[in-house]
Amino acid sequence: MFKMPTINIDPATCTNCGTCADICASGIFIKDTEKKVRPDPANFALCISCGQCMMSCPEKAVHVEGLDYERDFTDWPGPAAAYETFRNTMIRRRSVRCFQQKPIPREVLEEIGDFLRHAPFGVEALNAAVTVINDRKKIEEALPVMLKRYQGMRKFFGTWLARILFKPLVNPSDYNTIFTHLLPLLDQDRFFNTEGEDWICRGAPAVMLFHGRKDAGEYVADSWIMINYAMISAQYHGLGSTIIGLIPPVVNQSGELRKIFGIPEGHKVVCALILGYPKHRYLRSYKAVARNITYLG
Ligand SMILES: Cc1cc2nc3c(=O)[nH]c(=O)nc-3n(C[C@H](O)[C@H](O)[C@H](O)COP(=O)(O)O)c2cc1C
Ligand code: SF4
Ligand code: SF4
Repeated sequence: MFKMPTINIDPATCTNCGTCADICASGIFIKDTEKKVRPDPANFALCISCGQCMMSCPEKAVHVEGLDYERDFTDWPGPAAAYETFRNTMIRRRSVRCFQQKPIPREVLEEIGDFLRHAPFGVEALNAAVTVINDRKKIEEALPVMLKRYQGMRKFFGTWLARILFKPLVNPSDYNTIFTHLLPLLDQDRFFNTEGEDWICRGAPAVMLFHGRKDAGEYVADSWIMINYAMISAQYHGLGSTIIGLIPPVVNQSGELRKIFGIPEGHKVVCALILGYPKHRYLRSYKAVARNITYLG
């Protein structure tokens, strides 16, 4: 829950350079008549604890309640990767769905988790949470429960009447996804064949779930941003990954799945990522030439 932080400046070390006042997105700091910089308590409710003031104060003179110079900040990193290296990394990311039977070391997943801490957030950094399931047994325990849910859905949507009645209850985008993509998939018996096939988690050794309390500000957008950070970081660590849209709806509907994955009460899963070491090597990368990009000017 949001708690309004108190912001202080240490007058003994502050040089009144004005950087914090310039940089703060919420206009927390004001310059008084003597050109002294001070935080204005009238604005404290607007602070989003982004840490920008503390990232930039040359004297470490500004303190935002709840943030700690030692714990919450890292030294400014060395040079960024050359553009070509960065671009290659991004282009090498493709959705990987075939994995080696090789476990992912916990340290690698912790590195990815650490990287997520640098992702932007809408309102509060802790509104989106991540659960890392690095345990194929747990995933396999969940799979039949997921399939049972999807079997129920297949039955439900099996009649035209159900489809017509359902239409006004969901937004048009979800309706389209369900009827043009999900149902044709569910109509295939092989989707439910549990003899060695796993059409949901694709045999991945690990799954990451991104979730948040249903009333937490911007947790949905924060989760989507974090999942992208996770994919890029995974790529650097030699892992392949894929966003799996099939996982969140069934986890959100099923108390049993929420229990298996340890999703806290009141949280909604927004998106899910499977991860593992790729079995195959790509020889070329895909580019969506039809993607709509408009340049005005
Ligand atoms: C919102 C979303 C949901 C997705 N759901 C699934 C899924 O359930 N199963 C799957 O195999 N891939 C899923 N994907 C992966 C896409 O199919 C993949 O990104 C797309 O085919 C493009 O391939 P690329 O990532 O290699 O560019 C999903 C991707 C997104 C963005
Ligand atoms: S943490 Fe961010 S919003 Fe809060 S005072 Fe510092 S710069 Fe402003
Ligand atoms: S950035 Fe630091 S030194 Fe500069 S005005 Fe703000 S608190 Fe003072």
